[in-house]
Amino acid sequence: MLRKIIKAITPYGLIRLRQIIIQHYRNSETIEEMQVIIDAHSKQLEELKGLDYSRVERLEEGLDGIYLDSDISEYESCQNIEEAWFAINGRIDQGDECIKACCEWYPPYPYFISLQETAEETLKKFFDARKRTIAECMKASMLKRQGIESKRKITEGCAKCPFFTKAKWAERRTDLIKHVYLAVYPSPCQSKCVYCNVGEWMRGFNVAESKIYYEKVFEVISLAKEKNMIADDANWTVACGEITIHPLKERIYDFVRGQATKFYTNGFVYDEGVAENLRLNPRSDILLSLDSGTPETFAKMKGVDKFDVVLKNMDEYCENGARPGQVRYKYILMPGLNDNLSDYEGIVQTMKRHETNNIILTRDYRRDSTYEEKQAFIYAAKQLVRVLRSNDIDFHLVEIGITNKEFNEILDNAEGGEPC
Ligand SMILES: C[S@@+](CC[C@H](N)C(=O)[O-])C[C@H]1O[C@@H](n2cnc3c(N)ncnc32)[C@H](O)[C@@H]1O
Ligand code: SF4
Ligand code: SF4
Repeated sequence: MLRKIIKAITPYGLIRLRQIIIQHYRNSETIEEMQVIIDAHSKQLEELKGLDYSRVERLEEGLDGIYLDSDISEYESCQNIEEAWFAINGRIDQGDECIKACCEWYPPYPYFISLQETAEETLKKFFDARKRTIAECMKASMLKRQGIESKRKITEGCAKCPFFTKAKWAERRTDLIKHVYLAVYPSPCQSKCVYCNVGEWMRGFNVAESKIYYEKVFEVISLAKEKNMIADDANWTVACGEITIHPLKERIYDFVRGQATKFYTNGFVYDEGVAENLRLNPRSDILLSLDSGTPETFAKMKGVDKFDVVLKNMDEYCENGARPGQVRYKYILMPGLNDNLSDYEGIVQTMKRHETNNIILTRDYRRDSTYEEKQAFIYAAKQLVRVLRSNDIDFHLVEIGITNKEFNEILDNAEGGEPC
């Protein structure tokens, strides 16, 4: 069959095209798959018989040329892939594949890339990997329409992720990076949160030793900026250990100057760099994992007694910000530690104090819950959600590793019912 397809093309003398097609579809699983793809692209092939080399070049560059011209605009993908999320998330000093499309927990992720010799190579690898990912998303959806289930090579993990949905992605796709996420390690932190392993990573953190790797990261971001690869209205996230005590924080603040930025901070220190960004960018905010509503529980969760200091620092950010609601909270719910009514009422009071009406509710994602642990989490979440609802506070349940049924159970049973 392969010979037949190739032969069918050669009479037109399109030797170059033939090579491209062979290369292009060599990853197809079966001859049937290949035939379906060739049929679907017969219109493009017809046009290419005119030996329009500019289009041939575009095919060669990647898969965009052929797919952008086709009618496949609706397919399964996600915002991170289509809007070119550029997440530097992980250790940069050990050759790790630290550049990713997201920080979700659905391995294998579509792509992860280590820092290359040069900034150009790193960016090229990133965009190439993204292009291949999009091509696979389109190909899989196209084959599905023909009743063929194709084996995913790049997006196998994505297919399990709740963010992977069918939509008219071709219309939303951007050529520019729309989100830069910086969770660069090694980075320092002075807290000892019970659920976090940043402390372990930081043993032996040496700024001088890490600086060469940071320079590599800074080069990549500078080049991407210089070459206008990052959208002007891109969102930035800064979550490098504890940014307010990071020895290279000024360099990071320079990158996010004038940009909508989310700062993950423990709030132990009030930082003028963060404050300035909030003041100048109404879209910027702080996301603080308070995980408690009382000083006692805060100390248990964070390993340090700083509840009042943190709340005062948040008062100051609020006073100097661009709008109410720029300080936002998270609650990592850990049954046995922070699942009691006084903490639930305390977090509600704190949110009212800082005029913020939306909280992220999540769990310790390091824990592989047993059945009992999961049930304890669900029970605690129902109670917390009930308290939030009775105070008209909005919430998002994220990364909680439970089924949709359990998720709905939390939402449904939290409606009214018994007081906790
Ligand atoms: C690693 S911290 C770094 C930024 C900053 N120090 C902070 O605490 O926000 C980034 C985020 O990861 C979250 N995090 C860390 N370990 C976690 C875990 N085991 N489960 C859930 N969230 C976790 C923290 O709550 C925080 O919101
Ligand atoms: S579908 Fe999920 S795992 Fe895949 S890139 Fe998007 S957010 Fe990440
Ligand atoms: S403050 Fe942030 S980085 Fe530090 S230990 Fe807590 S979660 Fe980890």
